[in-house]
Amino acid sequence: MKIAAHHTAPLYDWTMHNAEFNDARLVAVYDAECSWSRDDDFFLSVVNETPAARVLDLGCGTGRLALGMSAAGHRVTGVDPALASLEAARRKPGAERVTWIEGTSAFLPDRSFDVALMTSHVAQFFVGDADWDAVLFDFSRAIVPGGRLLFDTRDPRARAWERWNPVDSRRTLAMSDGSAVTIWTEVIAIAGTAVTFTHHYVLEDGELLSTSTLRFRSEDEVRSSLERAGFTVENIFGGWNREPVGAADGELLVIARRVG
Ligand SMILES: C[S@@+](CC[C@H](N)C(=O)[O-])C[C@H]1O[C@@H](n2cnc3c(N)ncnc32)[C@H](O)[C@@H]1O
Repeated sequence: MKIAAHHTAPLYDWTMHNAEFNDARLVAVYDAECSWSRDDDFFLSVVNETPAARVLDLGCGTGRLALGMSAAGHRVTGVDPALASLEAARRKPGAERVTWIEGTSAFLPDRSFDVALMTSHVAQFFVGDADWDAVLFDFSRAIVPGGRLLFDTRDPRARAWERWNPVDSRRTLAMSDGSAVTIWTEVIAIAGTAVTFTHHYVLEDGELLSTSTLRFRSEDEVRSSLERAGFTVENIFGGWNREPVGAADGELLVIARRVG
């Protein structure tokens, strides 16, 4: 049986895309699957290079890293258009020390953050070039001169989408209420460097679907778009242990600085 995902956010059209972040049942699955990991260690270690920083986490989701950065002594603002994810974040221990904003980069105040970041490939949700340029310009406005922008985006050369198929991606997850969820992903369209895929979630009372499109930008595209928006690139690593691009995890881990 297929049951429809529930969509509530007024700020974003969730009816076709990204239900995984805005349906409370799927948000619980996301949280059960995505615990603190080496990507969080990487980002926290870079943020810690700016002590007691004012940090913006755009696309903070259910707040795992935002809460970790707050616990490490930073003043954190988490922004996300997905209300169900933010509600999950607000229920977690320490949430009262983080400022949570239901919104997008358009909501950011000027010159207010020492460090801004997008993690777990939030950057790839900006599919069109105009949307990507707009978010980078919003960051450029919101970060103080000399401040840093950090994000991860998958290196298209690693072709991660080829593993997003019902065989390689299939797994079963045990939930804290004792139920089990079987999950798999299938790519449904590839248009240039934009990949559209559907996650299938088989819960005990039926199946939910969530469809998303992600853009895979090359290292050259990332560098030139950052320069256009007023950033200099300090480093781009290919893996979570700061390996060179092409040598490790198929990532582009970007550390850029707002030109002073
Ligand atoms: C894969 S999750 C990552 C969440 C979190 N950063 C983490 O590490 O778990 C992607 C997040 O990007 C958010 N997102 C999607 N489109 C966005 C947009 N236009 N502006 C800001 N956030 C967006 C989603 O709501 C979702 O919470």
